[in-house]
Amino acid sequence: MSNSIFRKDGTAQGVAKQRLIETLAKPNKRVIYDPYAKNFVLGASIIKLMGHKLNVWLGEKIVPGMHEHLISRTRFIDDLIENSASMGIEQYVILGAGYDSRAHRLKLPNNLKIFEVDQPEVQEKKISKLPNNTPNIDNVTYVNIDFKHHSLKERLLDAGFDQRKPTIYTLEGVSQYIPRKALNSTLNEVATLNSNSNSKIFISYVNKLLKEDSKTCFGKGYSKPEKAVNFITKSAAKLGEPWITFYSAEEIEDILSENNFTLTENRTLADLNSKYFTPVGRTIPENHIFKLEHFVIAESKK
Ligand SMILES: C[S@@+](CC[C@H](N)C(=O)[O-])C[C@H]1O[C@@H](n2cnc3c(N)ncnc32)[C@H](O)[C@@H]1O
Repeated sequence: MSNSIFRKDGTAQGVAKQRLIETLAKPNKRVIYDPYAKNFVLGASIIKLMGHKLNVWLGEKIVPGMHEHLISRTRFIDDLIENSASMGIEQYVILGAGYDSRAHRLKLPNNLKIFEVDQPEVQEKKISKLPNNTPNIDNVTYVNIDFKHHSLKERLLDAGFDQRKPTIYTLEGVSQYIPRKALNSTLNEVATLNSNSNSKIFISYVNKLLKEDSKTCFGKGYSKPEKAVNFITKSAAKLGEPWITFYSAEEIEDILSENNFTLTENRTLADLNSKYFTPVGRTIPENHIFKLEHFVIAESKK
């Protein structure tokens, strides 16, 4: 462990911080709302005092578009989960859940069983910070794991996962932290768990061209893309959670296909800008588009 303040949750806090910042925007300007994020973020009271505009402005100075990228990822998955729940999905497995609060902030049916999977240190902290009256808390089962060493299948079955039920999985902001072998075995276990029932999965992945052709990972005219990549990768490493694995679109499609999934969508902020930011008057200019990470949805092959 490289940093005793963060105890393995540095990157989980980093994402929750962006959700906190977005939550501070006026209701008619915000793209997502996460009233729980403040409970998990170090220095939340200062961030709240600074407000949405100043925090976003500061972020723009460091890595333009990163805040909006992370918020579009959150919203994209929120929409996916709400749609899937309304279409009859009965289990939701949040792989590398960190401080994700979808279980509590989205309108989800009471019969949707949620499994949050992450490292025990992160889960202990999360549980201790959630208020006693948190909505839907009884529908959440915490499953601790290290994807590099443990069997997801065993842990989920021990926790009451039902292999007959249609299930959605999300792996949000995690694939860059685990070896390719761990992603492959996790997908393999997911496919086995639902070999007799329908499943869907969301995965985000970082473009493997991030270093050798960094400008392709940002919008046209983005200033100093190499500097943005360096800042992000160095920050993650400093938190003790280095980015180690990257993919091309073809590689992700192949890994999914080998594990019985068909890729149905591959998006970035560039595709979601007009859907999420334009309606609230915050269209991101092309030269601030951050598309280093992609959002993929895949469905189990019939
Ligand atoms: C960037 S955070 C994303 C958290 C959450 N999905 C979100 O988007 O808010 C990455 C998460 O992956 C978890 N993680 C990283 N490596 C892991 C591993 N080997 N086993 C289990 N969880 C891991 C971390 O604990 C952390 O919560």
